[in-house]
Amino acid sequence: MKISQALSVTLHDYMPRAGDMRSEILGGLAASPKILRPKYFYDERGSKLFDAICELPEYYLTRTELGIMEASAADMANVLGARVLLVEPGSGTSMKTRLLLDKLHWPCAYVPVDISREHLIAAADRMNRYYPALEVLPVCADFSQSFALPAPRLPAARTVVYFPGSTIGNFEPAAAVALLKQLQQLAGRKGALLIGVDLNKDRGVLEAAYNDAAGVTAAFNLNLLTRLNRELNGNFKLERFQHRAPYNQAEGRIEMHLISLDDQTVHIAGETVRFGAGEAIVTEYSYKHTLPGFTALAAQAGWSVRKVWTDERRWFSVQYLTAG
Ligand code: AVI
Repeated sequence: MKISQALSVTLHDYMPRAGDMRSEILGGLAASPKILRPKYFYDERGSKLFDAICELPEYYLTRTELGIMEASAADMANVLGARVLLVEPGSGTSMKTRLLLDKLHWPCAYVPVDISREHLIAAADRMNRYYPALEVLPVCADFSQSFALPAPRLPAARTVVYFPGSTIGNFEPAAAVALLKQLQQLAGRKGALLIGVDLNKDRGVLEAAYNDAAGVTAAFNLNLLTRLNRELNGNFKLERFQHRAPYNQAEGRIEMHLISLDDQTVHIAGETVRFGAGEAIVTEYSYKHTLPGFTALAAQAGWSVRKVWTDERRWFSVQYLTAG
């Protein structure tokens, strides 16, 4: 781990490896069904498209979670208690965090954790300006791997991990349990987790959220192929693939697919991949939990759900969990 000064903040850098994109992508395209991991959505254009998705009328998740935070952040702050060390894995722009930080009682420090070094430094610098009295300690790391938290100047009463956005929904159950265990290691025995979890609801609402009329989610999904063409020397023809996002009721998840419109051969990273007409590449799962279902999942990782805040329609939840 390397400690360095960047803009107004001290960066704790675990120098996460980018991972072997080539072998992961080729492995996924050789599997049956073909599968690509959603982390590859987020190149520069993909991140911008995701920001645009969050503003869409059909994409209720961000708006609903922000509404819950606006209505209940003060109550959450009372439950979390004074002098917390607030850790945010996958912090991105730290946008929702401000609603929480504004209400927290004397937080001792804020630790944004992100794999993208430049964005992390810029966001941490911004937070430092918004909250000049708060110690901001950015950590560049892959949050699914274990890493040590930096020591704050002031003593913390407890560590609280804040994991908003229903990012947990993009993990299949076994991987979600592994991640929740990792978050518990981060929070420690006296620590807590405040997590955003999207809830199961009417199929029509769900499918509209992932098949928006303006076609932004389709562009986000297809951008993955543009990225593979650019970074792995691929020759995917985008007009020969179509975005589709059905709700799989039995599994309780939206499934994002790219459907091959005809029999075709694609070259990528020096390899040849064949597609049949109608064949799907699975690009993302987005699980929609029930409240008892998420309680049971969290219990497998040693967490107990202590309090749940939802919106009036019970479409989204922010949940407070403690160990044991
Ligand atoms: C980041 N994640 C919670 C989003 C979701 O809703 O599963 C990603 C996304 N995929 C399509 N639209 C948004």
